[in-house]
Amino acid sequence: MRYDVGRMTAIHYDSRLTDEERRARLYAGDLFVYSPTASSLRLVELARDMLAEAFAPRDPLFAQFSLPVEKYAQILATLKPAFIHHPACKQLLPAVLQELGCDPQRTYFDVPRMRSAASGDYLTSGIAYAFHPHRDTWYSAPFCQINWWIPVSHITADNCMAFHPHHWSAPLRNSSAQYNYQEWNRASRYQAAQQIGVDTRPQPHALEPVQLDPQIRLLPPPGGVIVFSGAQLHSTVPNTSNYTRFSVDFRSVHVDDAVAQRGAPNIDSYCTGSTMGDYLRCSDLAHLPEHATAAYDAGPPQRVSAANG
Ligand SMILES: [Fe+2]
Repeated sequence: MRYDVGRMTAIHYDSRLTDEERRARLYAGDLFVYSPTASSLRLVELARDMLAEAFAPRDPLFAQFSLPVEKYAQILATLKPAFIHHPACKQLLPAVLQELGCDPQRTYFDVPRMRSAASGDYLTSGIAYAFHPHRDTWYSAPFCQINWWIPVSHITADNCMAFHPHHWSAPLRNSSAQYNYQEWNRASRYQAAQQIGVDTRPQPHALEPVQLDPQIRLLPPPGGVIVFSGAQLHSTVPNTSNYTRFSVDFRSVHVDDAVAQRGAPNIDSYCTGSTMGDYLRCSDLAHLPEHATAAYDAGPPQRVSAANG
């Protein structure tokens, strides 16, 4: 029997690898799953409290069944930015990263996003955008970006997120060339709450059929943490669970990798612009130094053939 090592996706549970070893494995396409930490549980609790307050007296998991969709979108449009900018997140995210082995002096994070995936066709656009298969690197993320994804409540295979490992090494024709993060921020982001029904904002997407299978759906408990490279092709699973899935995610960058331009291979990202200006140092919330970000301003390095070898 022959094993195709280039296509293997190892999944590490509660790994004891160092952060440096972990980053190397993430850049090679591996996935990591961690049990809840003290701070990830506090982050989840914060999200739950804010959700409960926003949807009161309804249960946030079932509020979609008794609210007009416009009202529902309106609630999320207030709640999501409030969560993103909640002062407690600036302590909790660095704490989660440190509990999971990151060096707070060399690790930078961005603000957390709260995601919602309503069940059925209720709301899949705008403020609750159901992400089609994509790589974050199609959205101007650096190839050293690492994603941290945490379910706020119990998830199932019917409402989680999915990875599509075939495309770790198989490029996809896509529209990322049209995307520029700085341009997107300027023109589109403020419109999200208005996008109910059809989303008209230009999102990078595949321009040919995606090989979704085999796909990986990881199901950690609430507060558990899925860690993956921003170059992984991933998507929102169509929610058929009859309740809304809420999750929290954020991203990190290690300054040494940013400077050395280490990271996952670029097989098909053509966007311009960079998210490097968003990351804050865990220890003191300083931005990445200019010598670490300068090389990224033009967009990702074009090393398109790298992963085919
Ligand atoms: Fe993503």
